[in-house]
Amino acid sequence: MRFDVITLLPQLVEAVTKVGVTGRAKDRGLIDLHCWNPRDFSNDNHRTVDDRPYGGGPGMVMKADVLLKTIRHAKLQAPEGTKVIYLSPQGKKLDQSSVREMSQSKGLILLCGRYEGIDERVIQLEVDDEWSLGDYVLSGGELGAMVMIDAITRLQPEALGHNESALQDSFTENLLDCEHYTRPEVVESLVVPAVLMSGNHPSIARWRRKQSLGKTWQRRPDLLNATPSTKTTDIKALSNDDKKLLDEYLQDHCSQEQDLPEHKKDI
Ligand SMILES: C[S@@+](CC[C@H](N)C(=O)[O-])C[C@H]1O[C@@H](n2cnc3c(N)ncnc32)[C@H](O)[C@@H]1O
Repeated sequence: MRFDVITLLPQLVEAVTKVGVTGRAKDRGLIDLHCWNPRDFSNDNHRTVDDRPYGGGPGMVMKADVLLKTIRHAKLQAPEGTKVIYLSPQGKKLDQSSVREMSQSKGLILLCGRYEGIDERVIQLEVDDEWSLGDYVLSGGELGAMVMIDAITRLQPEALGHNESALQDSFTENLLDCEHYTRPEVVESLVVPAVLMSGNHPSIARWRRKQSLGKTWQRRPDLLNATPSTKTTDIKALSNDDKKLLDEYLQDHCSQEQDLPEHKKDI
């Protein structure tokens, strides 16, 4: 998959392909990254990319002519039909199902704003979708572009050591991931759950599924289209087997909760 990123800080975005899963994916040719700096498409000697906002007010706005030229140049290099995405606090909040959908495309053009943002007409003329990292304001879209590249790359076939890893991650099937443990067996008197040491793989899979269901129920019932007061039998998103497992989790948890300190209850 090819990523074309329009950014005033290419060195920042390129860092994502220097390390870790994304670095290895780039080295193995699973992803390709091209950064385009709008300054290289500016007409004047100062390589100006911004100007004062019409109507006054603080800050500067990224200019339409320079951005349009940069986007159209990137489009010529990108696979046909590549969407242009503007990283923006005003966009839809990025989630795993959107990431999954985007991971199926051959390419994406990611437009990173800076300053007060970009001239609105760029959005009208060239932007297909706007995505936000969340309800807070960053200084630029670069971190958003890097987040998207990372999340999408993990889902490319062969990008992870074990192809199943991505299937077990949180938000697959709208569930949070179960908890994980590694050696040693005891850490400051906390012991690894016995079932994980049993070697009984069906029991381990069942326990993991139960933990995923329970954690999702406790922390993110919205993922199951439920609230904490919904009866488990009424959760349409779950199969009957999952409902039974969730009931089991709740029974285990309720009896354990009585022994918990106050601040640990109802996490
Ligand atoms: C300082 S922000 C501009 C914010 C803009 N004035 C507003 O309030 O909507 C500069 C750039 O950072 C990026 N940005 C800021 N917050 C973001 C977020 N939550 N998600 C994605 N991109 C964001 C956008 O590309 C934006 O153009």
